[in-house]
Amino acid sequence: MAKILICGRGGSGKSTLTTMLAHHLAEKGKVLVVDADESNLGLGKMLGLSPPAQTLMDTLGGRKVVGEKLMAAIKSKGTEEVKIFSEDFGFSELPPESTIWAGEAGLIQIGKIEHSKEGCACPMGALAREFLNKLKNNEKEWVIVDTEAGVEHFGRGVLEGTDAVLMVIDPSHEAVILAEKAAKLAEEAGKSFAVVLNKVDEKTEPRLKKMLEKMNIDIAGVLPYSPAIAEANLAGEPLNVEPLRQELRNILNHI
Ligand SMILES: Nc1ncnc2c1ncn2[C@@H]1O[C@H](COP(=O)(O)OP(=O)(O)OP(=O)(O)O)[C@@H](O)[C@H]1O
Ligand SMILES: [Mg+2]
Repeated sequence: MAKILICGRGGSGKSTLTTMLAHHLAEKGKVLVVDADESNLGLGKMLGLSPPAQTLMDTLGGRKVVGEKLMAAIKSKGTEEVKIFSEDFGFSELPPESTIWAGEAGLIQIGKIEHSKEGCACPMGALAREFLNKLKNNEKEWVIVDTEAGVEHFGRGVLEGTDAVLMVIDPSHEAVILAEKAAKLAEEAGKSFAVVLNKVDEKTEPRLKKMLEKMNIDIAGVLPYSPAIAEANLAGEPLNVEPLRQELRNILNHI
C-alpha cells in the first residue's frame, strides 16, 4: 500500500494525524510509522509505543558515519544522493535495534538532534530519503512518515520514495500560504498532494475551505477541533480514533 508523507506547519497536528492513521490502518494490515522529525520526541508516546532503543542513524554508526558518506557524495557527484543501503529491504528486514512493533503498528526514528553544536540536520534528511527510497512495502503494508514542521524535507527530497503528501492545515494564515508553496513543491516532485483541515470549527472550516479552493488545493478531509484530542495529548494518553474513523477512511480513499 501507500507510503504517505505527513507535513505541515509547527503544531498543526502532523503527529496527531500520523497517530490516528496508524491506529486506524493497524486494523487492516501492518503499518510502519517513520519518525523523520529530528527535533520532537513525543510521537512514540502518542502512538502508545516506547521509542526503539536506537535511532536508525545510531544503528548505522551515528551521525559522523552518515555525515561522511553524505560529504563524499556531495564531493564526488555534487548531489546529496548518498548511498547508505546496498539493497532494497522490506518490513521484516528492518534493524531490530531501531524498530519497535506493538501488534501491527511499528515505529522507527530516523535520527534526533542529540548534542549542542552537533551541526545541521542534513544527514538526517539524506538518511530519511535513502531509507524511504529503499523501503519496499507490500499491498498489506502501509508507511506513514511524520515530518518536522515546514518544508525543509521537500528541499532534501525526503518525499522522493513516498507515494503521496498529506499536509495538515490548521486555521491560520501561515498554514494557507505554506500550503500553496508545498503544493508547488510536491507537484515539482511528481507527488500527489492533498490537505487535511485540522482543529477547525463551524466558522473557520468554511472560510479555510474557500481560501484553499481558490488556490485549487485538493482537500482530502476535515478533522474538527476536539477537546478530547487536546486533553489526551496533555495527559499523555492514547488517542481514541473511534469518533474520527469515518473521516480517516475518507482521507485514505481520497489519496
Ligand atoms: N483536532 C484537534 N483538536 C484539538 N487539539 C488538537 C487536534 N489536533 C492536534 N491537536 C493538538 O495540537 C497540538 C499539536 O499537535 P501535534 O503535536 O500533532 O502537531 P505537530 O504538527 O506534530 O507539531 P510539531 O510541528 O511540533 O511536530 C497537540 O497538543 C495536539 O493534541
Ligand atoms: Mg509532530
